[in-house]
Amino acid sequence: MSEQIIVNPGVGKEETYQELLPQIRSLIDGESDLVANLANVAAALKEVFGFFWVGFYLVRGSELVLGPFQGPVACTRIGFGRGVCGTAWREKRTIVVPDVDKFPGHIACSSRSRSEIVVPLIRRDEVWAVLDIDSETLDHFDDRDAFFLHQVCALLSR
Ligand code: SME
Repeated sequence: MSEQIIVNPGVGKEETYQELLPQIRSLIDGESDLVANLANVAAALKEVFGFFWVGFYLVRGSELVLGPFQGPVACTRIGFGRGVCGTAWREKRTIVVPDVDKFPGHIACSSRSRSEIVVPLIRRDEVWAVLDIDSETLDHFDDRDAFFLHQVCALLSR
């Protein structure tokens, strides 16, 4: 397995995801440890897209607890239905937030985060984690991010 992620610089968002997905697949196919895989996926997304914050929160009882991530120190626990992450967990769906200041109950781990996407990781109809990505740019995420990040999360949920 190659330990390097290679994507063509200067191509669009969609192409970048298309190049990245098979590399993520082979990265995690060779490893059975969950933490190792979540850590490498967070690192790959951060490396390729330069997101401000990328990471996972894991379902632990009635809370989400901070898991592997890349970026500044973040809040460690989020209750069911709280913030964007807890809402994605409760509603079992991806949430795109173009402007975090307009999301009621948004939990601000950093004042630099301006927009956000949260994708639930679902196995046997149960959310077991969420992928959270924050950007310093307003309106950074769209349907393409939702589509491809859903695929990344599906790979991790097999
Ligand atoms: N903004 C998230 C909290 C996690 S941090 O962004 C890393 C939320 O509202 O759930």
